[in-house]
Amino acid sequence: MALSHSHTPVQADRPVTVLGLESSCDDSAAAIVRLHGDGRVDVLAERVINQNSAHAPFGGVVPEIAARSHAERMDHLAREVMEEAGLDFGALDAIAATAGPGLIGGVMAALMTAKGLAIGSGKPLIAVNHLEGHALSPRLVEPLAFPWLLLLVSGGHTQLLSVEGVGQMTRLGSTIDDAAGEAFDKSAKVLGLGFPGGPALEKLAGAATDPSRFALPRMLARDPSCNFSFAGLKTAVKRSFDGLHTPSDADRADLAAAAQAAIAAHLAQRTGRAMDIYAQDNPQGRVLVAAGGVAANTAVRKALVKEADARGFRTLFPPLKYCTDNAAMIALAGAERFRLGRTDALDVPARARWPLDTGAAIADPLLGSGRKGPKA
Ligand code: KG4
Ligand code: ZN
Repeated sequence: MALSHSHTPVQADRPVTVLGLESSCDDSAAAIVRLHGDGRVDVLAERVINQNSAHAPFGGVVPEIAARSHAERMDHLAREVMEEAGLDFGALDAIAATAGPGLIGGVMAALMTAKGLAIGSGKPLIAVNHLEGHALSPRLVEPLAFPWLLLLVSGGHTQLLSVEGVGQMTRLGSTIDDAAGEAFDKSAKVLGLGFPGGPALEKLAGAATDPSRFALPRMLARDPSCNFSFAGLKTAVKRSFDGLHTPSDADRADLAAAAQAAIAAHLAQRTGRAMDIYAQDNPQGRVLVAAGGVAANTAVRKALVKEADARGFRTLFPPLKYCTDNAAMIALAGAERFRLGRTDALDVPARARWPLDTGAAIADPLLGSGRKGPKA
């Protein structure tokens, strides 16, 4: 176990500049952010390289391919953003990297690079939980005050988190099987669409003429928790598809629309429940933030906005580049931690599993990994 270092907290009005590195899944990314005393954030440089084309032939992320490609790129990406920002390492306050959760070979690439740069420059290292990066990502766009409710929906995560402060998050719900993005990707695969399937399925659904033709199950309809389940949906989509003799384009579009509607309804229903629970403890923070690739889906957005409006919640969808995996959110989480005097020792480990909310993870180990899905 690494010792946790701490520095004297930084004077609140002084800006903090941090380099952030991310490689926990299939995106290699580096960014530099400057966090001002009033909460404003400047992203001074940012780069993301995705590996979609490398993984597409396999219909999902292949850990060995991801790890090798991260290892080849991290160094270059770090140097590129430093050049783009016109900074030398002396101008940084700290170097942050995702230390988990994620594919361990990938996580190590960014963390080892950050350790090397921290040793070389004498700057402190900050090990960031990838989920905390997502949780704080709306602050890249506006100085949003704590608390808020976060729905994180991507190919790797499906979680509802009450975000009360830096390092203070409570998980209200999580998927018990597939991630929401996985539900889109698997349904898309049944319909003969390529990877990643979410955007392709949304496009096909747009051509539907009778979206209510296929009856798909309503997952966990009577379950009182805020958890999610998508495994049954994929099976039902497959069964409906196999029931068609020679599926026409119109059949496929109707089924795509039915699958999309079922996913959107489930996400919205569970999030509505979470808003009710969250609002009891946080009467002041009526803000719902939706992040992750699936939050790009228009039907999902509409369904969430409807539930939020009904409860007097404002909805905030960060721009897609900060919703999906990126390094600006890691640099920002690092800057927020640095400002509070929290840094890490150089022997801090990379972790495949690292739940944000350790209380909930101990109470319910099945859901505690912090990560579920094909990318888990
Ligand atoms: O956040 P993200 O880019 O990567 C991680 O999983 O970390 O999310 C990717 C997921 C994929 O499953 C993809 O199919 C899904 O988000 N996705 C969508 C849409 N765009 C991306 N799903 C539904 N509709 C979309 N427009
Ligand atoms: Zn992510």
